[in-house]
Amino acid sequence: MKVLVVGAAGQLGQAMAARLVGEHQVVAATRADVDLTGYAAVLEFVQRVAPNAIVNCASYNDVDGSEQHQQQAFAVNAFAPRTLARAAEVVDATLIHYGTDFVYAGTASQPYSEDDLPEPQSVYAQSKLVGEWMVADWRKHYVLRVESLFGGRRAKSSVDRIVAAVRAGTEAPVFFDRVTSPSFIDDVVAATAHLLRTEAPFGLYHCVNTGHATWLDLGKEIARVLGCSEASLKPVSVDAVKFAAPRPRYAALSNQKLAAAGFTMPTWQDAIRRHLGGHTR
Ligand SMILES: NC(=O)c1ccc[n+]([C@@H]2O[C@H](COP(=O)([O-])OP(=O)(O)OC[C@H]3O[C@@H](n4cnc5c(N)ncnc54)[C@H](OP(=O)(O)O)[C@@H]3O)[C@@H](O)[C@H]2O)c1
Repeated sequence: MKVLVVGAAGQLGQAMAARLVGEHQVVAATRADVDLTGYAAVLEFVQRVAPNAIVNCASYNDVDGSEQHQQQAFAVNAFAPRTLARAAEVVDATLIHYGTDFVYAGTASQPYSEDDLPEPQSVYAQSKLVGEWMVADWRKHYVLRVESLFGGRRAKSSVDRIVAAVRAGTEAPVFFDRVTSPSFIDDVVAATAHLLRTEAPFGLYHCVNTGHATWLDLGKEIARVLGCSEASLKPVSVDAVKFAAPRPRYAALSNQKLAAAGFTMPTWQDAIRRHLGGHTR
């Protein structure tokens, strides 16, 4: 299969392009190759490449900055996916796109499923939700909602920030009242490869590691696996931090639908172990 990966310079995009090469003919495109906010340029580019699948790893990810830069957020997170959906339809390609847990309000008491109603609380979250809808305009689509991505080459995630602080013995503020189901990039790539390979039913899937934890518990697990002291971890409340864009407090997602489609995401503890061991699936 010929697979076009756009957003290939990002943390997920880099890993995606590198790992799909073993299985597919991969064309990795960065912003320098095609700016996804240009409608005609994207259509021309996609027609020239003529892929069987497009994997969209591009995004405007400045969550707080989006409150000020709504136009930029919507251009990349909502209208670029619309253009990609149209281009995918023109060449009859499957389109894979990534969403976020931020589409939920974070007030639930059990993990959100794909059937739960989104209630985005920020401009970033709204732009990402509209992007999901745009992608769903093309029948042959997968939207994978991911969360707190970690394991990228640039090590810029919250998990990596905690790992670095615990290793160095410096202070790592961690929320004791914010719950996450993080997504290990290796597992997101493997899930994507599975969907491409098996042609599972199209639609929306939560693509997070199995289980959930507070950021404090995640930090404790990191310290345990590293064999380091937990003393670095400084528990803080979400209420103590003023973000321009509100974050969902309870962001546990259920990945049961993905499991029913044949791909069981490993537990987050297993993902942390593999990440810290430097192993990949
Ligand atoms: N990171 C997380 O924790 C997280 C959480 C939930 C959901 N997600 C979703 O997961 C996906 C991957 O995220 P990520 O963390 O890998 O993102 P990332 O590292 O920020 O990479 C995003 C990429 O998109 C590219 N891009 C932005 N605007 C573009 C444009 N106009 N044309 C072409 N390319 C453009 C950027 O190019 P430049 O390098 O040139 O800027 C960058 O390489 C996204 O859909 C994101 O919303 C991520």
